[in-house]
Amino acid sequence: MRILGIETSCDETGIAVYDDELGLLSHQLYSQVKLHADYGGVVPELASRDHVRKTLPLIDAALEESGSTKNDIDAIAYTAGPGLVGALLVGSTIARGLAFAWQKPVVPVHHMEGHLLAPMLEEEQPEYPFIALLVSGGHTLLVEVKQLGDYTILGESIDDAVGEAFDKTAKIMGLEYPGGPRLAKLAELGEKGVYRFPRPMTDRPGLDFSFSGLKTFAANTLRAEGGMDNTNEQTKANIAFAFQEAAVDTLLIKCKRALKQTGLKRIVIAGGVSANVHLRAALGDLMKKLGGQVYYPRTEFCTDNGAMIAYAGMQRFKAGHVSNDAVVKPRWPITELLAM
Ligand code: KG4
Ligand code: ZN
Repeated sequence: MRILGIETSCDETGIAVYDDELGLLSHQLYSQVKLHADYGGVVPELASRDHVRKTLPLIDAALEESGSTKNDIDAIAYTAGPGLVGALLVGSTIARGLAFAWQKPVVPVHHMEGHLLAPMLEEEQPEYPFIALLVSGGHTLLVEVKQLGDYTILGESIDDAVGEAFDKTAKIMGLEYPGGPRLAKLAELGEKGVYRFPRPMTDRPGLDFSFSGLKTFAANTLRAEGGMDNTNEQTKANIAFAFQEAAVDTLLIKCKRALKQTGLKRIVIAGGVSANVHLRAALGDLMKKLGGQVYYPRTEFCTDNGAMIAYAGMQRFKAGHVSNDAVVKPRWPITELLAM
């Protein structure tokens, strides 16, 4: 069976074709980064309009790259949420329109389930059950994954998502949108031990996170050094280093607790922030020490993409989770998903 996946939840148009026997056959991505850069963040209306321009040409390209025609496609999966409502509506309307024209079923996909299952596109895949740390621009979730579709949230952020904290801190430091990866790059030039940032909510039990204080701590540190214009590059790099060190350490402390609490030895990291090299290395070290294993998607499938939606869509399709509505759910807790 073969499925077309459509991702348009934020500022990336991602299209892919996945075959349940042959694996991923093609994937196409168009990033709107340049479009939003002047505004310092995603402008929802511009995002929707650009998805309208890009989605159909990318579907043509993905079909061609996979050597498929519409007749080879058994179902169409699209991101139904969570995300920006206008952007989601573009994907859902195109999915619905194509499904009507081609007479194929439609499969709504949860964006975070897509991220969670992205490591399944790699050669080395985790067995169930495992812990998933989902870290993106909109979410910070620690999830116990008992089996495909069976998710229990162990912890989540009570304020900013960790990706959001990276982006906001980057903005404070004068870095261009999208700031997260730029801040991580600046941190590579920083020196250890110059600043020590707090590890929020690690001094009390529980698995929830809070990241908005780290951004404020970075802003105050920068101000104490003379502000953005009077601080030299090395000092900025040192602040970036301390921010990243604290954010990663905080994630690590909670992962360690979640593993202990559940007795599990496998952990998956996914979502945009899982592209962070420091986080991957730190989690790799931790799992080595614990005699467990960490799994993550290749870097290009950490951030938003169509491949993860096609993969998750295939699993949902096989479980019979097709829909006749062009439903979008801008807010959609992952725990509301039906088991497979
Ligand atoms: O999953 P994603 O592409 O979109 C959402 O669903 O939100 O995640 C984007 C987030 C952004 O906040 C971005 O700054 C962050 O992931 N990100 C990173 C890195 N690469 C992307 N954060 C830290 N280090 C990185 N290398
Ligand atoms: Zn995402």
